Amino acid sequence: MTKKQELIDILKPVKQEHILQFWDELSKDQKKQLETQIREIDWPTVTQWALDAIKDEATSIPFDKLKPAPYYPLVPETNKDIEFYDKARKKGVKLLKDGKVAAFTVAGGQGTRLGYDGPKGTFKVSPAKNKSLFQIFAESIICNQNKYGCKIKWYIMTSKINDVQTREFFAENNYFGLDEKQVKLFTQATLPAFGLDGKALLEAKDSLALSPNGHGGSFEALKASGALDDMIKNNIAHLSYWQVDNPLIMVMDPLFIGMHHLTESDMSSRALIKRDYAEKLGHFCILDNKLIIVEYSDMPEALAKQTDCSGRLAFRAGSPAMHVLKTAFIERITSGKLDFKPHKALKKVPHIDGNANQINPQQPNAIKLEFFLFDALPLANNPLILETDRDEQFAPVKNKTGEDSPQTCQEALLNRAKKWLEEAGIKLPENTSVELSTKSFVEKQDVIDRAKAKTLPALTPGKINYWE
Ligand code: UTP
Repeated sequence: MTKKQELIDILKPVKQEHILQFWDELSKDQKKQLETQIREIDWPTVTQWALDAIKDEATSIPFDKLKPAPYYPLVPETNKDIEFYDKARKKGVKLLKDGKVAAFTVAGGQGTRLGYDGPKGTFKVSPAKNKSLFQIFAESIICNQNKYGCKIKWYIMTSKINDVQTREFFAENNYFGLDEKQVKLFTQATLPAFGLDGKALLEAKDSLALSPNGHGGSFEALKASGALDDMIKNNIAHLSYWQVDNPLIMVMDPLFIGMHHLTESDMSSRALIKRDYAEKLGHFCILDNKLIIVEYSDMPEALAKQTDCSGRLAFRAGSPAMHVLKTAFIERITSGKLDFKPHKALKKVPHIDGNANQINPQQPNAIKLEFFLFDALPLANNPLILETDRDEQFAPVKNKTGEDSPQTCQEALLNRAKKWLEEAGIKLPENTSVELSTKSFVEKQDVIDRAKAKTLPALTPGKINYWE
């Protein structure tokens, strides 16, 4: 049988033979590329996902059964909790000292809203020194290593669109002072985009329009890349997970890690109290005794607005996508076939038409399929939620301007520094601010300790200072 016929046999049953429409014009290498792409996809499953996504306007969540998920408050309110938080913090420190915790960043996204040409982690965001997101995290890891006297492995998920550039960026910058061997990059899988007629789109005659399969693709990618085996080999019990666009993240939080460990949680989450019902954060909910996250776009307005007896929003716990995951949990859920269903996003996807004309759509024209990390929550035993403080830990860079933009993120970094300095008894003069390097300052106590030791640098009024 010819190669073309073999591929037709794969694609015809799912009505996707148009993918081979330019086959006879392709060179040997081009044929090889397209063949590889086709063979990597489970076509019956993926086509069905796309068709379901196109048909299915409404979500199938039984909203009348949803309950708000309980969470631990930021500040313990009872004596029992005060004791528990204290014990948890100590446990977290011990786990870090013992080298039981690794860092895990998902950085495979396309960053389309930011419109920046390059991997988002290379985006320069710090207000005085113009440090990239990756540098801020790397230095934060170094600070934690010094604090806890340990070595912290850092796993970073990239995608085919940004893996090479990300690797080059780390190499050019000497891994920002980390040991090359402790930084493990691995690549997630891709999925094809589909037109609204259910046909997979071609980016070129020899290529499908592929995009990364969502941050939920990390489970399969951890397993397939050998990163999970590496963690097991290195006795790593837990992963501290964050997304690449939030430089305020406390990359290692002993309290959160310790609570996760002591409660035997498989997957723990931080929660942000929503500013208002419309804030674009997923809602932590309980459905049939399982923890789930309902996306803000799926939540009926009436439910999002519901208040409890204290007058606060009932579904106020929103997800900023910060988690701690047990390595054994990842091992368990990836030991068989992971039965995640992708979420759909209606997007503008450039492609070629049947006459090989380039189409650059002005309106959304395609369905992209993405797995979400939080879909693992219902599979987790004892999932724990701990409130977080927005000003301390969350200011993502999502958009070019306006909300969640580089400007709001820089303001948040400077405001947090100002608050930490005030708590250490330092009042900033007018028009003066400080960028605190994560090499030395990853929590308020670091500023207080340096103030006590009188080792803080001098302050120049009227500018953005940089302190290490
Ligand atoms: P977002 O959902 O904000 O997507 O990703 P994005 O790709 O960064 O930006 P837009 O939506 O195109 O503007 C949240 C986090 O998940 C990672 C991103 O890199 C970011 O850290 N992510 C997203 C992946 O690692 N892989 C994906 O396939 C998607």
